[in-house]
Amino acid sequence: MKFSVSKTVAAAALAGVLVSAFANATPPRFYNLIEGTPLDFSDKEESAAVKQFKADGINPYNDDAAKIAEGESLFSTACSGCHGHHAEGKLGPGLADDYWTYPANATDPGLFSSIYGGLQGMMGPQSGHLKQDEILIIMSWIRSVYKGDPAKALWKQK
Ligand code: HEC
Repeated sequence: MKFSVSKTVAAAALAGVLVSAFANATPPRFYNLIEGTPLDFSDKEESAAVKQFKADGINPYNDDAAKIAEGESLFSTACSGCHGHHAEGKLGPGLADDYWTYPANATDPGLFSSIYGGLQGMMGPQSGHLKQDEILIIMSWIRSVYKGDPAKALWKQK
């Protein structure tokens, strides 16, 4: 009896997993790409754009000319010293082509996670220097200078 009850529970749980996998309403996951740990967003202010991004994984600033221009100037201050003024790569890798050391960066939640949570070596977390909203603004510029294969632009396929 006990056995059949737990089997029923297990079957119900499995059905739940399948339903949520196919419902396509699961919010994106944000985690440190090196440690695999969830990003810590406690005590951080969230703009309306950031809240929306955390719910659906779509950067609302992509293709917004004013935000892209702002992103270029933020990138030039915070990132270009290592990644080059055109994101062509310098000390750090190029960000305008379709080769990613971390394939998750072809998605916007992945790119956000790399910038906010940091990667290895000199690519430390930017969560202390940049607001989450500014990270989305910088990302819109990075996506605007993309020169890689359009089929690999996974952030557009949402
Ligand atoms: C002090 C130098 C430095 C600064 C400043 C810096 N980066 Fe990096 N970045 C690196 C290095 C080095 C790597 C490679 C890290 C690795 O492979 O783990 C990297 C990796 C990355 C990657 C992963 C690329 C891939 O191929 O997967 C992204 C995305 C990135 N940086 C974005 C940014 C952005 C955006 C900024 C500004 C907010 C920034 N970085 C600031 C040095 C820097």
